[in-house]
Amino acid sequence: MKGIVLAGGAGNRLFPTTKVYSKQLVQLYDKPLIAYPISVLMLAGIKDIIIISDANTNELYKKLFGNGSHLGIQISYERQEQPNGIAEAFIIAEKFIGKDSVTLILGDNIFYGKLDFLRNAIKYNKGATVFGYHVKDPQRYGVVDFDENGKVLSIEEKPIKPKSNFAVVGLYIYNNDVIEIAKNLTPSARGELEITDINKEYLNRGDLEVEVFGRGIAWLDTGTPQALLEASTFIGAIEHRQGLKIACLEEIAYLKKYISKSEFQEIIDSIPQCSYRDYLVDVIKNEHLFTKY
Ligand code: TTP
Repeated sequence: MKGIVLAGGAGNRLFPTTKVYSKQLVQLYDKPLIAYPISVLMLAGIKDIIIISDANTNELYKKLFGNGSHLGIQISYERQEQPNGIAEAFIIAEKFIGKDSVTLILGDNIFYGKLDFLRNAIKYNKGATVFGYHVKDPQRYGVVDFDENGKVLSIEEKPIKPKSNFAVVGLYIYNNDVIEIAKNLTPSARGELEITDINKEYLNRGDLEVEVFGRGIAWLDTGTPQALLEASTFIGAIEHRQGLKIACLEEIAYLKKYISKSEFQEIIDSIPQCSYRDYLVDVIKNEHLFTKY
C-alpha cells in the first residue's frame, strides 16, 4: 500500500499566508499541519509516502522531512503545477503507485481517534473505500446518501440541497484501477478533476465501500482561519490534558519500531532545547509507559 499526502491547493481562504507557501505548512498548535495526515498514514502502517504540492512548498517539505529515512519511512515528492483537482494526484503519482493500491489523505485533514477503522479498511479494501462523517454543513463537501440498509444511493460534490448530512472525508483507499479512472476523467464545471467523480465510477462498478465513522472519531477540516484556530485549540486541549502528543512523527516512528533506539536518540540530539525535545526525551526514558497508548 502506497500513501499520498496531497498538500498543494490554492488555499485562497488562508490568504495572505498562502501567498508564500501552501497551507499544510502552517502551525497547528505545536507542529506543522502536514504532520497530522502523515501521522495517520504512519500509524496505519504505510511507510512509502509521496507528498504532492506546489513547487515552492515542495522544497520546504524536503527541508522538513528529507527522504524520511530518519523516521524509518520513505518520503518522495512530486509537484502539482496548478490546483487542478484532488483526482489529479493519481495521475501525478502514477509511477510512484506502480501496480500497488493507494491511500490518499488530504494534507489539511485531521483525524483524531482510534485508527482501527483505517487499518481494517486497508486490509479488506477491494475496489474503493471511503468514509462518511456526520456534519452540520454537508453542502461544503462530497455528500453520500444511503438507503435504510446502508446501501449507497448517490455521491454528490458540494450539492446545494444535500440528500444527507454525511460528508465524505479526505481519506480514500483505492485499488490500482484508480490511475486509469483518473486519466479518463474530464474536468468539472469548476475546472477540476474531482475525487467525487472517481468515487462515482467505483460506485457504478459496484466497487465502492462507504464506512461511516462513529462519534468517537474527530474529523477536523482546517481550510479557514476559524477552522485552524478551532483545530489548534482541540489538539492543544488534549495534548495539555494528557501530556501526550498527537502526530509526533518521531515518537510514532520509534514506538512503531520503524527506527531503533539509537536512531531515535540521534534525532533527539539534533533538536534544539525546547518542549518538543523534552517530550521525546520523556518517550525514550519512559518508553514502557508510552507504549501503553
Ligand atoms: P480545498 O480545501 O478544497 O481547496 P484549497 O486548499 O485550494 O483551499 P481554498 O478552497 O481555500 O482555495 O483542498 C483540499 C485539500 O486538497 C487541501 O489539502 C489542498 C489539496 N488540494 C491540492 O493539493 N490540489 C488541488 O488541486 C486541490 C483542489 C486541493
